[in-house]
Amino acid sequence: MKSPDVSTTYLGLRLASPFIAGASPLADRLDTARRLEDAGCAAVVLHSLFEEQISQAESGRIHHFDPLNRQFATVVSYFPEPDAYALGPEEYLEHLRRVKEALGIPVIGSLNGTSAEAWLTFAKRMEQAGADALELNMYEVVTDPDQGAVAVEGGLRQIVQDLKHELKIPVAVKVSPYFTAFANVARSLESAGAAGLVLFNRFLQPDIDIRRLEVSPRLELSTSAELLIRLRWLAILRGQVRCSLAATGGVETPTDGIKALLAGADVVQMVSAILRHGPSYFTSMRDELRHWMESLEVARLDDVRGRLSMARTEAPGDFERAQYIRTVSGTDVTS
Ligand SMILES: Cc1cc2nc3c(=O)[nH]c(=O)nc-3n(C[C@H](O)[C@H](O)[C@H](O)COP(=O)(O)O)c2cc1C
Repeated sequence: MKSPDVSTTYLGLRLASPFIAGASPLADRLDTARRLEDAGCAAVVLHSLFEEQISQAESGRIHHFDPLNRQFATVVSYFPEPDAYALGPEEYLEHLRRVKEALGIPVIGSLNGTSAEAWLTFAKRMEQAGADALELNMYEVVTDPDQGAVAVEGGLRQIVQDLKHELKIPVAVKVSPYFTAFANVARSLESAGAAGLVLFNRFLQPDIDIRRLEVSPRLELSTSAELLIRLRWLAILRGQVRCSLAATGGVETPTDGIKALLAGADVVQMVSAILRHGPSYFTSMRDELRHWMESLEVARLDDVRGRLSMARTEAPGDFERAQYIRTVSGTDVTS
């Protein structure tokens, strides 16, 4: 049998494999970016340029989220701490140009913000700098009790519409799962112009230090345990939206990647696993996918993608079931 065809299409871009580097410092250094490509990584998403960096370029600080703070640096020791998060908007564009020049695979720029302000026009400059697509990370914890869901969701939609108006390149939207009716939000973002949805953002979860009486921000590399909520929503949305779907979060092993594809992902973004194992893990991901397809005599990825989505599985109710009756009734809790 010929080697199975693992190519895929994401945001209209043809990719040699479904495994791509998610938004992170992975492509901050050109030599590492080249190693990612050599190992079979099919596209890279650059780390985000934050709204605050554009609005307040002079401050150079990231207010919402600084994944490279010292506390976190220990777990990403494989990759030397880059200065890239300190990059201002102009340097970010320069970096994007250089990565684009150095690589043959698509390069996706990333913007992180929540308001429809002037910073959005910066997206146009990413396009001019050569970005093949833009990923918009709508990272927000709404803490204002006067702000209701309808207004928040309308705001997100507006941002996508504005971006779509500015750009020719496709826009993917990275969102959190914390919406009352996420399927509706997904469809509304798609109709506003999103070419893809990236499921899901991981929020920085603050912990509490009971000795110091302090709140301590925590960010850890993900594990497979985080994958399940992604699988559920990929499976629910596949067949209900037409835009591309990307999985991000909890893809720790090749088996996890295959699950995401079976649920309906067009691509699987990876960060934590690559930080743990290095760029060559992309080769293992692709090779394991091929072996698995060979073992099932599947010739093309398109033949299995979404095979276990809600629309195609024989047990669609399993994706909807939010309560635990069936699971719990089979569990002996007395022992
Ligand atoms: C060190 C590090 C830096 C990250 N930087 C960004 C970023 O700049 N923008 C963004 O949207 N997500 C960022 N993320 C989140 C990842 O893109 C990804 O969604 C998350 O890590 C879950 O995927 P994983 O399980 O493969 O790690 C970062 C994650 C890590 C670990």
